[in-house]
Amino acid sequence: MAVRINSSIQNTLCLLNPPLFSLRYRASSLKLKPQLHFRQNPSRGALFCTCATTDITPQSTEHFVLTTPLYYVNAPPHMGSAYTTIAADAIARFQRLLGKSVIFITGTDEHGEKIATAAMAQGSTPPDHCNLISRSYKTLWKDLDISYDKFIRTTDSKHEAIVKEFYSRVLANGDIYRADYDGLYCVNCEEYKDEKELLDNNCCPVHLKPCVSRKEDNYFFALSKYQKALEDTLYRNPNFVQPSFRLNEVQSWIKSGLRDFSISRASVEWGIPVPDDKTQTIYVWFDALLGYISALSDDQEQPDLLKTVSSGWPASLHLIGKDILRFHAVYWPAMLMSAGLSLPKMVFGHGFLTKDGMKMGKSLGNILEPNDLVNKFGTDAVRYFFLREVEFGNDGDYSEERFINIVNAHLANTIGNLLNRTLGLLKKNCQSILVVDSTTAAEGNEFKDNVEKLVDKAHIHYENLSLSSACEAVLEIGNVGNLYMDQRAPWSLFKQGGTAAEAAAKDLVIILETVRIIAIALFPVTPSLSWRIYAQLGYSRDQFDAATWRDTKWGGLKGGQVMAQPKPVFARIENQTEVEDKGVAVRKTKKSKAKPKQPQEVAGA
Ligand code: MSP
Repeated sequence: MAVRINSSIQNTLCLLNPPLFSLRYRASSLKLKPQLHFRQNPSRGALFCTCATTDITPQSTEHFVLTTPLYYVNAPPHMGSAYTTIAADAIARFQRLLGKSVIFITGTDEHGEKIATAAMAQGSTPPDHCNLISRSYKTLWKDLDISYDKFIRTTDSKHEAIVKEFYSRVLANGDIYRADYDGLYCVNCEEYKDEKELLDNNCCPVHLKPCVSRKEDNYFFALSKYQKALEDTLYRNPNFVQPSFRLNEVQSWIKSGLRDFSISRASVEWGIPVPDDKTQTIYVWFDALLGYISALSDDQEQPDLLKTVSSGWPASLHLIGKDILRFHAVYWPAMLMSAGLSLPKMVFGHGFLTKDGMKMGKSLGNILEPNDLVNKFGTDAVRYFFLREVEFGNDGDYSEERFINIVNAHLANTIGNLLNRTLGLLKKNCQSILVVDSTTAAEGNEFKDNVEKLVDKAHIHYENLSLSSACEAVLEIGNVGNLYMDQRAPWSLFKQGGTAAEAAAKDLVIILETVRIIAIALFPVTPSLSWRIYAQLGYSRDQFDAATWRDTKWGGLKGGQVMAQPKPVFARIENQTEVEDKGVAVRKTKKSKAKPKQPQEVAGA
C-alpha cells in the first residue's frame, strides 16, 4: 500500500534551518552537576559514569532521571509490562545506593483509539476505564516494591498543558503541516505501517492482526528534516541506543530515509485537541512521549514547559521494550530537536518475555499474570527470577519449573541457608554475639579480597545495565561463602575447643559479613529480602535505610553486635498450596515438578 502525502508546504521543509540546539535548559533548581560523560566504548566501560568503578564515593548532587514507558491502559498490566518496571526499579535503587538524586518516572498512556475501544468493550467510558486500569498499575507497582518517584497519566491536566505548549513550539519552528494520509494502520501499535514490514493479509508482525486501511486529512511532523541531525547525533554518541546491537537497527531505519509522520487524528475523539483545531486530536505517541517531561512538572504550579524542563530534563535513561525503539530513538529525538530541547542521554531497548516463543502481550492474550506470581512466590522471587534469568536486552521465555529451581537454589539455598545455618552455629556457640569486628576476623585472609573483587564486578555490571550478570556476581559471593563454610567446617572446630574454637568464632563473623555484603549488593533486585537479612544481622530499619553502595565494603559488622534469633529469610518453594509462617512465607505450589537442591544440613548446628 502506497503512502501518499500531499502538502502545500512540504517543499519548503528542506529549506528550513537546521534543528535548534541552542536551548539547553539546565536543572539549576536541582543544583545539578555537569552532565555525566559517556565513554567511547560502551561495551566494557560503565555506561553512566566515567569515574573509576572502584570509586564508590557517593556524589549526592549528581542526578539520574530514568523512565519506563507509559503503559497503555487498554487492559491491566501483565508480566511483560511489569518486566520493564522491575528492571527500571533495580536500576533506580542501584543509582540511589550510589548516592545519586534519582527521579524514577513511570505512568500510563491513556489516550487514543485503542483505549477508547477498550473502554467501550467494557461498557465503560474512557475516563472511568482509564481510572480503573491506571489504578491497577499503581497497585501492582506497590506489590512489586516499585519505588517510583513520579507517576504521570496522560490524562492529567498538567500533561495536556505541556503537550499543547510543546506542539506550539514545534509548529512555530515550521515543522508541522497539513496533508492527506492514505495507509495501513495497526491499532494495537497505534502506528501506520509500511506494507513491506507486514505479514500475509497485511497482518502486523507484532500483534498478528490485520492492519486497517485509513485515509485522513492530518497534521504532519516534518521528521525528514531531521535525518542528518539524527545521523550526526548517533555518530557523535553511539551510546545513545543500547544495547549496541540495536544501534544498527536504528541507523538502518534512518539511512533508509525518514518519512514525515502524522501527529493528529481526525477520527479519534479521545485525545488532546490540536491547539486551534478542535476537529483533530493529537496522535497518541506525540502526546505520550511528552509524559517523560510533564511528569517533572510541579503539581502545585501552573504547568510551564521550560520550567518543567529545568526540573530534571534531560532523562539519563529511557528504558523501553524493543518494539517501541523507533518512537524513542528516531521520532522523539527529532521532536525534541524541533522544540529546541535537549535529548535524553540513552535509550535502552530490552527484549521480550515470550511464551512459546511469541511476545507475551495483551493483544495476543498469552499473558502471565504478575499478581498470580507474586501471590504464589513472593515479590523478591519474581523480581529476582526475571532479572537473573533473562539477559537484559535479549528475549527470555518463562517456565515455572525453571522459576522454582532458580529461586530455590539461589535465594533459599545459597543465600538464605548460608545465613540461617551460620546464625544457628553462632547462637549455639557464641550466644548470638559477634566475637570481633569483621575487619579483624578477616585480617590476612584472602577470602575477603575475593568477596571485594566480586562486589566490584557486580558494580560494573549494574552500571552497564547487565542486570543478570550483576545478580550472577552477587550469587558468586554466596557460592564462595558456602565453600568457605564447608572447607572451614566451624562446627567441628568448635568441638575441638581452645584456639580452634576461637578461629571458628571468627569464621562465623566472616560468613555473616559476607552475607551482609550480599544483602546490599542484591538490594536493587531483592529489596525485601535484603531487609530481612539485615534484620537478622541485628540492624534496625533506619540503619538499613541509610545503607549505601559504600556498605558493600568489608568491615560493617562489629564485635559485640547481637544477631537476631535465626529465622529463615527466604523459604523454599514446596509443591502444595501456599502457607504463611510468621511473616516469612513458606511458599508451596501444586504444579511444581522441580526438585530443588536440599538445603545443606550443618553438623552440630
Ligand atoms: N504506550 C506505549 C508506550 C508509550 S511511552 C511514551 C506502549 N505501551 S504498552 O503498554 O503497549 O507497552 C509498554 C512496554 O511494555 C513496552 O516497552 C513494551 O515493549 C513492554 N512490553 C509489553 N509486552 C512485553 C513483553 N512480553 N515482554 C517485555 N516487554 C513487553 O507501548
